[in-house]
Amino acid sequence: MPNLLLSYDDANMRGDLAATERISPQDLHAAHAAVLNLHKDKEQGWLEILDDKQYLTEIDSLVKKFSKFKNCLVLGIGGSDLGSRAILAAMRDNGKKTKLWFAGDTTDPEEVSRVLDAMPWDKTCINVISKSGGTLETMAAFFEARQRLINKVGAKKAAERIICTTDPEKSDLRDLAISKGYSLLSVPQNIGGRFSVLTAVGLFPLALAGINVKSLLKGAIATRDDWMNHQGTTHAIDRFAAWQVAHETRKKRNMHILFAYAACLGPMANWWRQLWAESLGKAVRKNGHPNHFGPTPIVAIGPTDQHSQLQLYQDGPDDKIYTFLTSATSRSKMKVPVGAKSFGPMSNAAGRSFEQLLQAEAHGTINALLDVKRPLGVLDLKKINEESVGALIVFLEIATAIAGELYEINAYDQPGVEASKRRARELLTRQ
Ligand code: PA5
Repeated sequence: MPNLLLSYDDANMRGDLAATERISPQDLHAAHAAVLNLHKDKEQGWLEILDDKQYLTEIDSLVKKFSKFKNCLVLGIGGSDLGSRAILAAMRDNGKKTKLWFAGDTTDPEEVSRVLDAMPWDKTCINVISKSGGTLETMAAFFEARQRLINKVGAKKAAERIICTTDPEKSDLRDLAISKGYSLLSVPQNIGGRFSVLTAVGLFPLALAGINVKSLLKGAIATRDDWMNHQGTTHAIDRFAAWQVAHETRKKRNMHILFAYAACLGPMANWWRQLWAESLGKAVRKNGHPNHFGPTPIVAIGPTDQHSQLQLYQDGPDDKIYTFLTSATSRSKMKVPVGAKSFGPMSNAAGRSFEQLLQAEAHGTINALLDVKRPLGVLDLKKINEESVGALIVFLEIATAIAGELYEINAYDQPGVEASKRRARELLTRQ
């Protein structure tokens, strides 16, 4: 692990799992090799793309072309937008260069119009992102947004302000972009939506917003290489995956909580939730009957959720496993005024920084859960910056792939999502 960026401590994770009930080192080694092979055989491409110079140059030249716009409306859903939202929130930097606005992840008319009504169209470009090139929520918002842009600047100028990010071969969006002269970026075919944040899907809008995507990739590559070249003891990423799977399959702890102790990491936990849920929740048919697999990922935000979910975690059923996502590196030095000392309940807190309060609450919660023997690990970012965020993303992506191998499922498809898309279209056709 590039320990300067991120560390993972799972000393407490063993809990009451007896040695014989753990996943064997041989199984874990096989899972590690299987994920490596998927990449060597080019069945998966999300680790290799990180240092594909030609691909990055294509993104960079479009970033240069579009950086004159003060606003960019990013339209996408699921894997096509959660990652950029997460990185942007972690960096707390939106608006430093081009301001990113997000829509396209809902068809709720009030929400779509709330964003579109506020757009300064004369100073805006649109980045519509859809790997498949036809997702209902995203494309509905795109056609409405495009109409408003055309109304403001005319069809010719509007065409110069639209960038479509999609599959390089099979995509109606790609065909539309070519026919209308929109700019195009591709998501390689061997990278699925939820593994695509470090492709043009995330890199283009984030670079436009002023996020240092080179550093993001540097942290991601350092983590990838550390995992790939690891020898001897089990790598922290493999252990992270193994504990989650072992606790579920051996101890029926099928609720996986990611407890983010920094508001800016909340959207990152939402990104992980999709990655974990869509990749690992699968039905595998054996002798004609479906076997259902998959943990339920749950997001908690500290300290807010100490006052909502924690009671259940502490005293409720022992069917959960916890990962605390921490970082004692707030950029704010704000303190509780010393004047609060005379107010009894605040006597310990007065004069201390809010950061100290946050850390006391995080570690207080960790200790309280350990007191009642709940299995937990701590994933700590040494700083919140582009490098450590890139490292965290790759950590969680590889862990998801390893967990998929341990469950013996295909972590890269999403037939359940496709089913709901199909059923919605059927209803629209009938109406
Ligand atoms: O991970 C996935 O494949 C999905 O979550 C997709 O990202 C999501 O359904 C959006 O699909 P698309 O990018 O094709 O519009």
